[in-house]
Amino acid sequence: MFTSFFNRAVILIAVAVGITLSFAASPREDSGSNWVAPAEADKLENPFHKDPDAWKKVEDTYKNLCVICHGDKGHGDGIAGMALTPKPANLTSERVQKQSDGAIFWKLTNGNPPMASYKESLTEEQRWQLVNYIRHLASE
Ligand code: HEC
Repeated sequence: MFTSFFNRAVILIAVAVGITLSFAASPREDSGSNWVAPAEADKLENPFHKDPDAWKKVEDTYKNLCVICHGDKGHGDGIAGMALTPKPANLTSERVQKQSDGAIFWKLTNGNPPMASYKESLTEEQRWQLVNYIRHLASE
């Protein structure tokens, strides 16, 4: 009686540990951290929401500032990103794309090392246009 209870407990613990480990070990579709923007960020409204050409205005900005880490197509494979921990996010991944415009804007604004904050170096307009650029990358 005691032994069978004990055996069951051991099996349950083994299963629980196994599940935990498999979660910890499962690779993410991109390699950033689990960085999450605060819920209020979702309420920010993108002034370029309905502007299909807004992304074009920051094409050079993306090339000059972001490609080095996030790569030309946003796949997180830029040359300077290789040695970083966490790795630069794949901006076309579902994990990034399913976030609201406001959340992505908040991340560009605040940064999370090694991802810089662009609050001082880019205008609010440019940060919103970059959100559109990130949407554009996923639609390519
Ligand atoms: C020095 C390398 C570097 C540069 C330059 C850089 N990033 Fe990042 N970026 C990162 C890293 C690393 C992360 C992952 C941070 C994390 O997950 O904590 C990241 C994360 C992000 C995220 C958040 C993705 C998510 O987790 O939801 C966005 C959006 C982003 N970067 C956009 C940009 C844009 C746009 C530019 C150019 C203005 C840029 N980044 C420039 C390294 C960089």
